[in-house]
Order: sequence, then C-alpha cells, then structure tokens
Amino acid sequence: MEKFIINGGKSLNGAVSISGMKNSALPVLFGTILTNDICIIENLPNISDVRVSLDILASIGASIKLLNSTTIVIDTTGVKPKSPPLELVSKLRASYYLLGAMLGRFGQAQVGQPGGCDFGNGRPIDQHIRGFEQLGARVSYESNAAITLTATNGLKGSFIYFDIASVGATINIMYAAAFAEGTTVIENAAREPHIVDVACFLNACGANITGAGTTTIRIKGVKKVKGCTYCIAPDMIEAGTYIIAGAITKGTVRVDNVVPKHMEAITAKLKEANVPLEIGDSYITVLPAENLRCVAIKANPYPGLPTDMQPQFSTLMTVANGMCTVSDGIYSSRFKYTEHLKNMGANIEYDERRALLQIFGVSELHGATVKAPDLRAGAALILAGLAAKGTTTVTNVELVERGYDHIIEKLLSLGADIKKERF
Ligand code: EPU
Repeated sequence: MEKFIINGGKSLNGAVSISGMKNSALPVLFGTILTNDICIIENLPNISDVRVSLDILASIGASIKLLNSTTIVIDTTGVKPKSPPLELVSKLRASYYLLGAMLGRFGQAQVGQPGGCDFGNGRPIDQHIRGFEQLGARVSYESNAAITLTATNGLKGSFIYFDIASVGATINIMYAAAFAEGTTVIENAAREPHIVDVACFLNACGANITGAGTTTIRIKGVKKVKGCTYCIAPDMIEAGTYIIAGAITKGTVRVDNVVPKHMEAITAKLKEANVPLEIGDSYITVLPAENLRCVAIKANPYPGLPTDMQPQFSTLMTVANGMCTVSDGIYSSRFKYTEHLKNMGANIEYDERRALLQIFGVSELHGATVKAPDLRAGAALILAGLAAKGTTTVTNVELVERGYDHIIEKLLSLGADIKKERF
C-alpha cells in the first residue's frame, strides 16, 4: 500500500513534459496483435496500466523488448488465441480490446470480464457485443463469466449504429472489422483524439479506415496488415491535470509536448473561469490565476469537456469565487471524491435526483487524510492537497499511478512538497 504526503499551499512553477496518452497507448498495444508482425511503439507512458497490458500480451505469446523507457519492440507472431489469466485481465478496463483484436486476427476470442475504475453504472459493454454480433460473431458466456466470441464463417462488413458514442466499442469494432469481408460503417462513433490515434496506427500498418474523428467511420476490410513504427499522441488528460495544478496553486506552469487542439474544451473552460493561459503550437502555459470564478462544469463526449477531467475541474471550483454546478453526461455519478473534498473544507452539495453537484467556493482548503476512490478522483485529491493549507495524506495512490507517469517526480520538479511512503 502506498500513500502520498503533501505539504500544500505552495505555488507550483516550471515546465513539465507530457507523456503519451494512456487511453491510446493501451488499445494500440492490444492492436499490435492484429499485425502478426513486429511493431515499434514510441512515447509509451510509464504507468502501471501499460505494464499490466504488456504482461497480458506476454501471457498469450507476444515477445516484448524495451528499447528505452518510452519505446518498446513488440513481436506478436507467437500470439496464440488463448484466454489470458483472469487476474491480469480483471486489473484494467482496456483488456476488453483483446476481444476485438483476437476476433479480428483469429476469428475467435475468449477473455474474462475487464476491470477498471468503478463509476457506479457497472460500465456495460453491450455496444461492443452487439457490434461483434453484427459482424457475424457468435457470443457466449462461460461459467467463469469469460466472454467467448467465435466467427466460424468469418466476419462480414456491416452497418453498426451505436446507441451511445462509446470509445471502447468504436475501437473494438475497428479491430474486429479490420479483416472483415467488405466494408463496415460505424455510425455514432466516438470522436476522441485517441480514436484518431488508434485509426492512424492501424492505417500505418496497412488497414483501410476513414472518418476517424467524425461520427461516421468506414473500415474497408483488408487481407492482412504488417507491423509499423508508431508514436503515441500526448495525453490531454495528464496535461489538463498539470494545468489545473498550476491554476489551483496560483503558479506559472508550462506543459510541453501537447496538442492544444485536443484540449480546446479544457482551455475554453479554464479561460471562462478566469485562468490566464498562453497557448502555443505544442505547449500551454498557465499564469497565476488570482481571480478564479465558479463556472458550470458539464462533462460530455468529445469535443465536449472530458469526463476524465471532471473531478479535477470540480476541485478547482471548490476554491473559486461564487457557486456552480457540475454534471457528467458520461458517468452520471462519477462523484466519489466529493466526501473527501468536503473533509478538506470544500462546500459541496450532491443533488442525487438531478445527478449534479453544487459547489460553493471557499477561500481555502485544509489538509486531511483522504483515500483515492479511482484514478482521476485520486488526481483531483492530489490537486486539492497541493492547494490546501497544511498536510494532506492521499492513500490508495496505486490507482493514480495506473494513469500518471512519474507523478511524484513531475510534481517535485514544479516545486511541490510531496513524497511517497509505503505502509
Ligand atoms: N457504455 C454502455 N455500453 C457500452 C459501452 C459504453 O452503456 O457498450 C456507456 C458507459 O457505461 C459510459 C458511456 O457509455 O457511460 C461511455 O463509455 P465508453 O465506452 O466511451 O468508455 P470506456 O471505453 O469504458 C474510456 C476510457 C475512460 C474514459 C471513457 C470516456 C479507456 C481504457 N477508458 O472508457 O477512461 O472515461 O472512455 O471517455 O480508454 C480514465 O482514463 O480514467 C478513464 C476512466
């Protein structure tokens, strides 16, 4: 068990380099299965979700070599269509990408139920399953709850209309349809930058995918693809988290190696909240935010404000002037951090019927011992600790390290007083 101890109330200042995007690195790693070849993946974030994904791939026969701390060579020629260990698969959400990738390459897949953060809605994968069925796969469930997909007569391109613009389902159908006979059209596809990143990776391998980044994606089945060298795009959520670290501590923080276009919803909302920003071609600098104001936070699918930034924005709002509401159009009850922020002096009310928070800004937070309920909520509590007067202890930080590369080192480089302890 690990905890972070933060002595808060210090301005953060300096520059931090943003790592590769978790939610594109994980699907790209599983997507290498489709190539039956050697891929070089660059700009991989050094996070525990990547390490678990590599363990899963090794367990089914991939061979992996680290070229340096952010680059790997992965050879998937030895991958067999077998079920990976449940204790690994259940550690992360992204293991569901094995379904599409194995189905696409072998016409069969058997994978245990994925894990990941709990947002109170069970995180169903019915859209993935329905899409696989529409491509011609038969779906069954084993007694140990593993999902089994078989396409004895091959997969055929189809028209798939998602009820919900799901990131995972969009990527999984791109994988399953990569070699399907004919053309698959996904309507109401998710549009997140990681969808585009994954489609670019697949196309670099020889797939034929158009429309990624729009609501209509077309996948023309090809006979085979080959390995490629691919560099993962920067993580807009990590970048947004460090920008808020600067804003909430009234410091000057520059995030380097970002794609500002991916972050327009985040930067627009920050500007509305009176956070001064300088936006360059590949960097964003936050300048001292002396007059923060409360603004409505509504998380929605891209190009809306990302749900993965909602807890961090709520934390910023706890010390802004005025009152605002927070709602989440993707995970309507992703608010498990609320009680912890209240323990630190935040004034927040939860309106369960309308599934929204009402935040009344206070002049300062104070230190407390709090527990990270999930990855982004944990990051939000660290932000609160950086701003709070006194000492904050955040436990359960293993969850935060699933998605933030060298977070302690990066915060120390900005002048934070933070350390990690085991207990
Ligand atoms: N949904 C369904 N049925 C489905 C699929 C999704 O009802 O078959 C619902 C979900 O329950 C949710 C909404 O649709 O309410 C959107 O879910 P989506 O499928 O887009 O999410 P995901 O693929 O499970 C990914 C990220 C999440 C991120 C969401 C939304 C990965 C591994 N996870 O999850 O990342 O919040 O997209 O952008 O890519 C995080 O990084 O902290 C994180 C939770």
